[in-house]
Formats: sequence, C-alpha cells, structure tokens
Amino acid sequence: MTRSSKTHHGSGRPLEAVIDVGALKRNFSLLNERGQGANCVAVVKSDGYGHGLQGVIEALPEVGQFAVATANELDRLDSELLSGRSILILEGFFDLYEPERIRQLGFCVEWVIHSHWQLELLESSPMQSTAGIRVWIKINTGMNRLGFPPTDVPQVFRRLAQLSTVIVLGIASHLACADTPEAGLNQQQFDCFAKCHAILVNSGYDNICEAGRLRRSLLNSAGLLQFPQYAFDQVRPGIALYGALDSTLHQTHGLSPVMTLQTRLVAVQQVWAGDRVGYGGDYVATEDHCVGIVAAGYGDGYPRQVSTRTESAGTEPYVLVKGQPCRLVGRCSMDMLTVDLGPTADCDYRAGDSVELWGKHLPVDLVAGWASTISYHLLTGVTRRVPRRYIDSLNPVNQGAKNC
Ligand SMILES: Cc1ncc(COP(=O)(O)O)c(C=O)c1O
Repeated sequence: MTRSSKTHHGSGRPLEAVIDVGALKRNFSLLNERGQGANCVAVVKSDGYGHGLQGVIEALPEVGQFAVATANELDRLDSELLSGRSILILEGFFDLYEPERIRQLGFCVEWVIHSHWQLELLESSPMQSTAGIRVWIKINTGMNRLGFPPTDVPQVFRRLAQLSTVIVLGIASHLACADTPEAGLNQQQFDCFAKCHAILVNSGYDNICEAGRLRRSLLNSAGLLQFPQYAFDQVRPGIALYGALDSTLHQTHGLSPVMTLQTRLVAVQQVWAGDRVGYGGDYVATEDHCVGIVAAGYGDGYPRQVSTRTESAGTEPYVLVKGQPCRLVGRCSMDMLTVDLGPTADCDYRAGDSVELWGKHLPVDLVAGWASTISYHLLTGVTRRVPRRYIDSLNPVNQGAKNC
C-alpha cells in the first residue's frame, strides 16, 4: 500500500476538529438580526459546545455577553479576554463564595436565580457579600426543570425588594419543545410567562429592577428561529451559533456548520467474500471489496452506537472519503473506524485520503440521528485528544494553529 502525497507529514495523527470562526461570526450575526434588537447572548457552556471556550470567545469580539451553565466553567479563562463584556451564569451560584470568587477573578457576571435555596442564601448573607450582585429570576413555565413556580414569583420579588444591594434584572424561562413548534406546551409556556410578567408589572415590581425595567429572556436557538416574536429583551442561542441544530432549519436561515471533524485513511485492506472485519467479526463481506481504516474512534468522541445499530430503516451510516459517501462496516473501535471503499477493481482510495466524519458536507445532526442522540451530544463529546484547529472562511489567509 502506498501512502498518498496528501498524508499529513510531521503533524502526527491526522484527526482534527477544524473550527471555522468565519462561520461562527456569520451565524452570530444572523441570529442577532433575528432577535430584532434583543441582546443576543452567545451560549458557550461545555467548552463552547466542544468548539473550545477560549477560541469561541476570541472569535466573537462583537458579542457583548456570553453564557455558561456554572461559574466553574470560567476557571481556566483569562478575564482580560472578556474585558467590558459580561457572562450570564445559567444555573446561578451554588454557594455565596462563588460570586465573591468570580468577582476576584475579574469577571463581570449576571446570575440566574432559580430556587428558594438561592434566594435564602442571598437573604442570609452579609450585605457586603451580596453588594452589586446582578440577578435574573427564572420561572418554571412548564418544563419542570429549573425555576420558581409561577405562583411564588410575586413573593420572590417582594423578598428581593428588601435586599437593597442585589440588582434585579428581569425574568427568564426556558422552552421545553422549541424544536417542535406545533407542540402545545410552547403556547402554554408563552402564556404562563406573559401572565407572570403582567402580574409583576401590575404590582409595580418593575420599579425594583435595574433602570426601572423588568427585562424578559425566553428563547434558545430553536425558539429564536421558530418564534422570534418572543425575543423580548434577551435571547440565548447556543447550538444554532455552531450551525448544528437541524440541517434543514439551518439551510432556511443561512446558518452553516462551524466544526468539521476530519481525518484520513491510515490503511486500505482487501477483503474477500466471507471475510470478517473488526471486533467480534460482526461484519461479513458478501463480495470482494476494499475496506478503509479511518483514524478516528469512540476514544475521540465518534459515537460507537452508529456502527452497532441494528435497525435497517433510514440511511446507512457513512463518512465521506475524498468527498464520497462510504458506509461504515464492522464495529467502531477506540481509535479506528472501518468503511466500505467499494469493489476491489474500482478502488482508487489510498492511505492518506481525506475523511470527513461530520461537518461542512455531512451534517452532525444526521450522524447524531444514526446514533439515536443529538448533535449537542456529539459536539460536546469530542475528546481532549482531538486537536482543535481554528480557521476563518471569511479570511482564508488565517488558517490557524492547532490548539489542544
Ligand atoms: C437556560 C438555557 N438557555 C439557553 C440554552 C441554549 O440552548 P440551545 O443550545 O438549544 O440554543 C440552554 C441550553 O441548554 C439553556 O439551558
């Protein structure tokens, strides 16, 4: 087997996650436009949905606010990178040392308060430790995950009004079914949120909020794409920023994939009818053909279930070798995948040929569907041994260095 001239010389194993910051910028600007003036917060939790927290923040200097799930996610980040920009902490604090610690690290943050125990922490703390804490109040409008019950919300505001050092920003909630616009739960959540807002304003609680305005924040990516009329003051897109929500919806809105997980063939095997491939010998060749060995496996975050699924319906899972779909054969192992390169006589594939596992030409949500999961899971599951390389399709001269 000869190695083709396209093999990566000197850069080690060819698997990499190529992150197109140009696509990220374009996606952000499209989502920002869709919010029609609402503050568009870029959600970067779980290491920027696997794209690299620092790399994503660096790529988006025009973004005024980012969101993470918990304050710990900021630990390895240099606060200088964010100077003048703030971070929304979607699950709020776990204790009252956290706000103090985050302040000392130099971050400017806003906390979402979702439960009575957090409110009690604020109430029981000395005034100096809560001074200047900026909070959003999360309401459980029907998802039943985080948030105060709607009936408790006036009482929450009454108690917040007693805490002169706490700065109240507004109310937030989260949609359970935004990606299924026809689901009845969406309207129930909109109505519940509207009712809470009206009760608070009618009771004059907007006066205890910053600048006398009770702000509202409701929409994630699917919400923003499907229901922009509820953008209100703040929107919180995550997955759409990375161009990975739903490929059909993305095409409609001009969003494009940011991460391409790509690698190369490391070997090509000839198999004969009756030969088996991979662990367990599950795959048995029914005719003579070539098998490509791809440098990527579940140890890199490729979902092993894709190769072990049994249902026959739908598209057979594939990767793109030199841009051509090649179906997976045999089990996915920790470091390698095996693919059908077609009949022996026509096989013009070589070790070193390019392979796309998902990304620009193969939507990650399609691959996720083969594994009975979602794109979020695949993106956040790309493991640390896979280098991220940042490129900019808006500025092709900048092809970026690998960043582990
Ligand atoms: C409260 C909240 N807002 C926004 C988001 C972003 O969601 P998406 O990535 O679906 O846009 C999330 C993600 O889980 C979330 O929990």
